[in-house]
Parts: sequence; structure tokens; C-alpha cells
Amino acid sequence: MRRMLVAGNWKMQGSMHSTREWIDRVKVTSSPSCDRVVFPPFPYLGAAVEAATTGELAVGAQDLSEHAEGAYTGEVAASMLRDMGAEYVLVGHSERRQYHAESDAVVAAKFLAAVSAGLQPVLCLGETLEEREAGKTEEVIQRQLGTVLEQCGLSAFTAAIIAYEPIWAIGTGHTARPDQAQQIHAFIRSQLAGRDAKLARMTRLLYGGSVKPDNAAELFSEADIDGGLVGGASLQAADFLAICAAAC
Ligand code: PGA
Repeated sequence: MRRMLVAGNWKMQGSMHSTREWIDRVKVTSSPSCDRVVFPPFPYLGAAVEAATTGELAVGAQDLSEHAEGAYTGEVAASMLRDMGAEYVLVGHSERRQYHAESDAVVAAKFLAAVSAGLQPVLCLGETLEEREAGKTEEVIQRQLGTVLEQCGLSAFTAAIIAYEPIWAIGTGHTARPDQAQQIHAFIRSQLAGRDAKLARMTRLLYGGSVKPDNAAELFSEADIDGGLVGGASLQAADFLAICAAAC
């Protein structure tokens, strides 16, 4: 049985004060049947890890370098994130692919760097509106996932989480219908099952894209949706907790 997981991706938002306040509110609650992870901006990671002392909340980073160390000014290595107490890391978020030209190959290299350092990668996949309208959703997902599988190997997926985030649903208020999301989640699981049935059964698949307290329960009731990667609605602790409640 897969445990549900709700992850809050704050993106480039928040402050030291709001980070501490949010974590103080969330950590005193518990969600026995659901894992919870928060992804604050890099500068607040340390404070987040320090504040989240209860084990009821894990902390992750929004990005990492594909390199282990060296002359890469401004980059942050997976080992440094681990050192800070981060347990998870987002890999290949569509905003990284779009605004920072991260190719499938770079995403795969980051995925491997994360796994090698003992971080749990949350691999983000998703199509644009044009790709969906052209009937290319599965082709895009297959390419994005296939590159990581080829470059990193199946064993790298043991601790991995996959997030399906249709780009047209991110930050737009246009959530994918539960049946639309389920269809792609089932497709992703079938891609894994074609290689390893047990791994496919074990791997958690999150949905992301305008998840809110009022649509979370319906999305999470789908067979292959094992939780959510929540952007905007994760900024308010109360909304994040309501979404966690919908997952439990
Ligand atoms: P959103 O963002 O919930 O604001 O649509 C999701 C994400 O980008 O992870």
C-alpha cells in the first residue's frame, strides 16, 4: 500500500519570518496516514529544518546542481542539501525546464545526483497546453520519463517520487479534471510496470497544478493519485493542512 504524500512548493516566495511561522503551525498537527514535505527557497532551508523538529514534516529543496562539487558559482550540490538536513528535492520542475533551459538530459543528471547523495527526488513531468491539444501528452511524458530511466537506470527509482504537473494547470486555476489526471497517472505507472511491476506498484505519483482545499479530495480519490505537489495553496498553512486532511 502506498502512503499518501502532500508536498508544498513555495517557489520564490516567503521570508524567514513566514517560514518559521508556517512550520510552527504545521508541525504541531499530525497526519498519520500521509507524509508531508515542504520545499522552501534555498535561504530558508536551514531554518525550516531546525523548526521542523518533530518528524511530522520533512524538508526538501526546489532544485540542485547536477554536479557533485566544483567551480559552478551559484549552484548548490546534493550533498550540501543533505548536509543541511533536506530529505527531498524537486527535479525538473517545469519552471526550471522553461526558464532555465533544463533539458531532459540535465534533469536526468540532477536526478542521479540527488539519488547518489541520498535525497529522495520528486521528478516533475508534464505537457504544455499546445502539446495536450496536439494529442502529444503521452509522447511528452514518455520522453521525459524515458530519458531519466535510460540515463539513471531503474534502481535509481527505488526512492523516487514522480509528480505529474500539466503546465497548463500550474498557477492558472485550471486544475486537470480528476479523470484527466488519473489517465496520465495510470500511463506513468504503466511505463514503470513495463520495466518492473513491483516498482510500479510502490512508486508514489503526485498530481500538481492548482490543487486547492476544495478540489484535493476528489483528485486524491483516484486510484493512481498518491498525493499532491501544491504551489500557491501551500503558502497558507491552513490551506496546506486542509489539503493534507483531504489526503488522509
Ligand atoms: P500551483 O503550482 O499549485 O500553484 O499550480 C504547482 C507547482 O508548480 O508545483
